[in-house]
Amino acid sequence: MKIRSGMNENPLVRLPKEFSSGDNSPMSINVTNIIVEARQKALEDTKNIPIPPVVEKVDWPVSCTVGPGLEGAISAETKVGYVNGQKGWLVYRGYNIFDLCAHSNFEEVSFLLLHGRLPNAVELKDFQATLRSDLKINQSLRLLMSFDAEHLSPMAALRLGINLMRQRQTFRDKEGVVVVSGSIASDEDSIPMETLPKGEKEAIYSFQGQTYTRPASPGENLAASTEMDSCYRLIAGVASITAAIIRLRAGKMPLEPLEHLSHAGNLLYLMTGKEPSALETRIMDVSLILHADHGMNASTFASMVVASTLSDIYFSIGSGVAALSGPLHGGANEEVIKMLQEIGEPENVTSWYKKARAEKRKIPGFGHRVYKAYDPRARILGPLAEAVTVGNPEMERIMATAKALEALVVVELGGEKKIFPNVDFYSGIVYKAMGLPAEVFTPLFAVSRVSGWTARVMEYLERNRIFRPRAIYTGEFYEEFPSLESRG
Ligand SMILES: CC(C)(COP(=O)(O)OP(=O)(O)OC[C@H]1O[C@@H](n2cnc3c(N)ncnc32)[C@H](O)[C@@H]1OP(=O)(O)O)[C@@H](O)C(=O)NCCC(=O)NCCS
Repeated sequence: MKIRSGMNENPLVRLPKEFSSGDNSPMSINVTNIIVEARQKALEDTKNIPIPPVVEKVDWPVSCTVGPGLEGAISAETKVGYVNGQKGWLVYRGYNIFDLCAHSNFEEVSFLLLHGRLPNAVELKDFQATLRSDLKINQSLRLLMSFDAEHLSPMAALRLGINLMRQRQTFRDKEGVVVVSGSIASDEDSIPMETLPKGEKEAIYSFQGQTYTRPASPGENLAASTEMDSCYRLIAGVASITAAIIRLRAGKMPLEPLEHLSHAGNLLYLMTGKEPSALETRIMDVSLILHADHGMNASTFASMVVASTLSDIYFSIGSGVAALSGPLHGGANEEVIKMLQEIGEPENVTSWYKKARAEKRKIPGFGHRVYKAYDPRARILGPLAEAVTVGNPEMERIMATAKALEALVVVELGGEKKIFPNVDFYSGIVYKAMGLPAEVFTPLFAVSRVSGWTARVMEYLERNRIFRPRAIYTGEFYEEFPSLESRG
């Protein structure tokens, strides 16, 4: 492995020469200023930490120290994104997260992650139009509604919805052998006919006389389902399904996207039924950019493992959703809100903290496996949370409590243990201040991370090798097989 000793310059120092997109409304200028200030603070706080060495060329096999759970293991090369926990850097395709949040938008960032470069104006417009059109997945949503989706957990419903998209988008509709819409329209009683059992033990249903056939070769299926179009459909589809689930859970019908809204704007509209303000859209956009990619985290790795078997991208992204649903991965932001409501007031922070520490509780929204400096995403979300909570007494109290807790935890645990707020500490406050229910916080993570998942899967498939780590066997070898009766 060829390693450069240090980078010539800190990517946070460079200002972008030109902005690829921009909304010049006064609101967005404020958000941009908040982010630029957060970048300055990050720079100041980490200026004495040495710039890390950078790998220029990898000669496989590489040596590394591996801990349990593959901690420290190097499993792939990537140009998609980079996280440095000491300096607090998060970089997508060479662009630091502060610049992307200040000057870009989620569509542009998704294009960047997937294609490795920023789009030009025409490409960006086309991509935005494609995503907007791909938000319309009415057939998949109708299928989802036939599954009692409102009673599933939102992440389970999202996983199901992705499977249903797969049904629409891969071999079934490509083959044209089954008119799925026909079967959706019919409930069990109206299935047109049941073929007569010809010696079979089970009955076989026939939809409109057509039968489903698998594609001739697995390659055919794969080609239909790993192309870039499927990545676009998934980026849009995860947003549509999430919004539909939230509406169904509130007893409302899913909506269709509006032509004049951005991806972030439509996401908010599809969830709430209200056209969002410029500020709400901008803040959702920033949040989507912030969560889009983050190294080889568990859900990204899960997606890549499934893709490496030459399964398809819908199954791969479904695995990412499944991994993200676990409380050790997505979901801490929901816990943060519960905790802040439990604390109640800034005055209660000290006594609450003492009790929590005495009980050896981990404080939700603090600490990170990789970041030993302040999480750059929290640097952006913190001041944004402060901005959106102004004027709402309940949220102002929650925000004041959060700030008091942060101050105390950083004094108590920041020095030696390097425990600082992570991305989840302020994201829930931002979402709650925008009127979004807590149950959508983790699915919103997926709405954004799907662009990182798809980008990394596509990159890995270019030089695919099936993932196959080892476990160290520490069991027995010479047990004598006992009969069933002798086992007690
Ligand atoms: C994110 C997290 C799982 C990282 O875990 P990790 O890298 O395995 O770190 P560890 O759990 O080994 O913690 C290292 C030390 O810091 C302490 N610590 C870590 N996070 C802490 C927290 N949130 N509150 C209090 N102490 C914490 C641990 O108790 C441990 O202390 P010790 O050395 O005295 O035993 C962990 O910080 C955590 O559970 N945070 C709260 C949940 C959360 O916010 N998750 C979202 C992450 S984006």
